[in-house]
Amino acid sequence: MRHLNPAVSTLFLILFPLLVFGQVITWQEIHPGIWKGTAGKPDAYDLLKAAETVPSPTLARLQKQDFPLDKAAIMVQFNHGKSYLRLPLQRNEQLYGFGLNFQTIHQRGRIMQLHADHYGKSDNGRTHAPVPFYVSSLGYGVFVNSAKYIDVYAGSGVRKDSKNPPEIMDRNTDKNWEAHPYSDAVEMLIPAEGVEIYVFAGPKPVNAIERFNLLSGGGCLPPRWGLGFTQRVHRLYTANQVKREAKAFEEKGYPLDFIGLEPGWQSKSYPCTFEWDRSRFPDPQGFVKEMDQMGVKINLWTNPYISPDASIYKAIIPYTGTHTVWNGLVPDLSMPQARKILFDQFEKEHVRIGVSGYKIDEVDGFDSYLWPDVATFPSGRSSEQIRQTYGLLVQKHSYEMFRRNNTRTYGLVRASNAGGAPFPYVIYNDNYSHEDFITALINSGYAGVLWTPEVRASKTAEEWLRRFQTVCFSPMAMINAWSSGMQPWTYPEVAPQIKALAELRMRMIPYWYSEFAKYHYNGTPPFRGMNLEDGFGTGIKQEKTTATLEENPYEEAVTREVKDQYMAGEYLLVAPLFTGQTTRKVILPKGKWYDFYTGKLVGDGEVVTISPGTDQIPVFVKDGGIIPMMPAMLHAPRGGRKTDIEIRHYGRKNGSYELYDDDGETFAYEKGAFSWRSIKVEQEPGGRLKGSISAPESGKPDTIGAVTWRFMTE
Ligand code: GAL
Repeated sequence: MRHLNPAVSTLFLILFPLLVFGQVITWQEIHPGIWKGTAGKPDAYDLLKAAETVPSPTLARLQKQDFPLDKAAIMVQFNHGKSYLRLPLQRNEQLYGFGLNFQTIHQRGRIMQLHADHYGKSDNGRTHAPVPFYVSSLGYGVFVNSAKYIDVYAGSGVRKDSKNPPEIMDRNTDKNWEAHPYSDAVEMLIPAEGVEIYVFAGPKPVNAIERFNLLSGGGCLPPRWGLGFTQRVHRLYTANQVKREAKAFEEKGYPLDFIGLEPGWQSKSYPCTFEWDRSRFPDPQGFVKEMDQMGVKINLWTNPYISPDASIYKAIIPYTGTHTVWNGLVPDLSMPQARKILFDQFEKEHVRIGVSGYKIDEVDGFDSYLWPDVATFPSGRSSEQIRQTYGLLVQKHSYEMFRRNNTRTYGLVRASNAGGAPFPYVIYNDNYSHEDFITALINSGYAGVLWTPEVRASKTAEEWLRRFQTVCFSPMAMINAWSSGMQPWTYPEVAPQIKALAELRMRMIPYWYSEFAKYHYNGTPPFRGMNLEDGFGTGIKQEKTTATLEENPYEEAVTREVKDQYMAGEYLLVAPLFTGQTTRKVILPKGKWYDFYTGKLVGDGEVVTISPGTDQIPVFVKDGGIIPMMPAMLHAPRGGRKTDIEIRHYGRKNGSYELYDDDGETFAYEKGAFSWRSIKVEQEPGGRLKGSISAPESGKPDTIGAVTWRFMTE
């Protein structure tokens, strides 16, 4: 440095440590147990900005926690215009998340590029919800708030300066040699000159997810009717055919809360006009009203790509991208002008006449039809940023339209991202693998999104029944008959079983509704992977196990990825069967588990083999579990109607449950018009179980009628 002038050497002194040790990360604890770290200059537009998130007030009530990682081991470096982020990993640690994956649950060791897209049969990061959030089995979470395509090496790279390097082995002679040596870090490349990262404390993994969801504003609270049954009719159905369909449900006694119309309701689609086709729907307002009187709401399919025949076409041109999708204009929904034109039209044509919601299609991808990354948008945001956030934008601004009208919505969308938890939309796709659908249901709980394993068609009655069983234990119980024209009773040989399942879905509405309220107020995902359950296991092999497979099948079972069973709400474990399966293994976490249908003890921290027959989907209840149920109805209760409830208790343990109540339809709950009723079941001195429920709060909505108790395990 002797030869350098003082200015240059000062610069060198500043730059050298940055290059070697990385950029300074400024940490700030923004809520109890949530830290925001900033390094460099992150992009001005990011996921949380696109979603316009307002953190949940619940965050203020959370307990303080220690920073869950070694801060000094978190590193950011800038390189070739990109930010390289490195976070430490311990040996005994499994990772979950990184978006809505369809085939994998354990993410440690995986390499992906997070990129909004349809799911192309491989978990490479291209998915409907490429959420840059992961949660660790050690009980913390990490989120990178960037609307760029992020390269992720989730514990695969090995640095030469690693402090915990893998053991060097000789492949010639050492049978323990591994093709994937141990890696001690998650590494990411973010194409931006800075990063904004969030670290969430637990203490349990599920608590880190709750914090992540609460940062987004908490999970969505659907209307009660959204948790009933929904049928999507054939794409070219007319108003009369739709009415006949609803009548058939009623006459045959199948529950139905909303019907989805597919592209044919629009005068033109692909590209779309958003206007009714008057030959099929001559009187849209009268039609929607008549359906409503039958207790059936209407949901409309659309994509946002605008036809030259749409009345808003000319007005919206200045606010659209350079490229078209199926010859339709692509509105730049990051601009207020574009969304005003589009959603004012939706509001006028649909929402004001009583349409209850949308299925917003094709906002995810398929490179071959979506705008290419060379496209530019009038907001100046990159095509990549618009792609990563398009699902958020359509959800946010359609949701706001319903909020303005003080009526809740529940619909479908094909793309989302971080920040999307509060939007009442469920993701779906065209991939029709029942197994993948269950894996996605599990992963949705790690990603702050909802997913439905919809039923479309089936080759056999058995397949129909099996698929139907899982949708009834998912966020949206739906048949999507847009192409098949199927109805619940299409296979007469299983029609009674299908009806019983749909009725069970309805009877469980008090449970589903309360579980969604917990998603909203506490951030707890209503559908979750087993690894989040106490007494289950993390999916990491115990290093010093002496047990052989024969000695301890449980340990062997829980170190594998468990992709075929999941938790539904606080107390239920669901273990679906797929076509052709007559028997299956179920891994029961530690603690006693009971059969949902009979209340009989099934097992405790063990692997059980069951052969349930085709009529039922195996469901197990945790010891002390409480499930509030209502009578089977054709439509979810509306208009503040009082409903009797039966409170079921399972096992011998004392139990408690928080039952949620509000008007089920409006946004009054946001102003405090809701209540929680505390349910308790306790053993009396003689061993008899006794239940109690707290009185309704005065001045709060009260839709709970007579209460009866059922002790399933007595
Ligand atoms: C697909 C969608 C289907 C159906 C269809 C209508 O993109 O995934 O569920 O809505 O469009 O054209």
